[in-house]
Amino acid sequence: MALVKVSEILRMADEANTSVIAFNCTDYNMIYSVVTVAEELQKPVIIMLYPEHHHLNNAADPAAFAATVKSLAANVKVPIGFHLDHSSDINYIMKAIKAGFTSVMIDGSMLPLEENIVLTKKVVEIAHAFDVDVEAELGRVGFAKDSDQDKLDMYTKPEVAAAFCEETKVDSVAVAIGSAHGVYLETPKLDLERLAAINAATNVPLVLHGGSGIPNDQLEQAFTKGINKFNVGTEFFQLNYDSIKEYCETYKEKGNVFDMPKFVQEKLMAYLRKKMELSKF
Ligand code: 13P
Repeated sequence: MALVKVSEILRMADEANTSVIAFNCTDYNMIYSVVTVAEELQKPVIIMLYPEHHHLNNAADPAAFAATVKSLAANVKVPIGFHLDHSSDINYIMKAIKAGFTSVMIDGSMLPLEENIVLTKKVVEIAHAFDVDVEAELGRVGFAKDSDQDKLDMYTKPEVAAAFCEETKVDSVAVAIGSAHGVYLETPKLDLERLAAINAATNVPLVLHGGSGIPNDQLEQAFTKGINKFNVGTEFFQLNYDSIKEYCETYKEKGNVFDMPKFVQEKLMAYLRKKMELSKF
């Protein structure tokens, strides 16, 4: 099957009262493992590129990344979604749309509300003209290292979310309810009441960022209270790194570069099989 629109996958998740998991990937092993396990479990999944990994680390150019995702998705039957994560640069978003991303995130969360609305509306107009979905962010999810998940003034307000979605016509919205990107300093505690109130006030699928390190019982509750897309990056990247390190340490000079990918993919796939149990399609 070719790629399936992210909005269609989120609709399926909403119907099943669950969340699809969206994994940040940088390389072939990560993308291959996500697609393979999704097919094995017959659970839809989303693959995301985080622009910083292109800008700062030269890890993946959007066009090359898109070619890999499209080619692997074409070999399987399960729906695979394809999304550009956090961007606030319209030119970069256009580049991603041209490369074949079927969904983009415009992150105006660092702007004052009115400016976030203007920027989001602009991207929605452009992206929808190309039949591409748009995710926005309201409130600010921030970074775990800055203890941002504890900053209540950054949390999404239900009434503001209702007006924001109505005005921007965005397809999904990332909410700030106590999660944050990166490694948590303390176990996070999601504000599930706030999530339920945002869900009641809006009619778009809600997205939870900062997925690494949130306890499963909280995630399971969040998935039944409106979260239909759940982003995971840090723990998947760390496992990729640890698996390469483990291969090198285990096989030392007996190891070789050609045997390493399968070793790494097995580690990534074992993690993904467990993680994707959370997604109750
Ligand atoms: P983590 O890296 O904390 O898992 O968050 C991923 C994310 O939200 C990407 O948008």
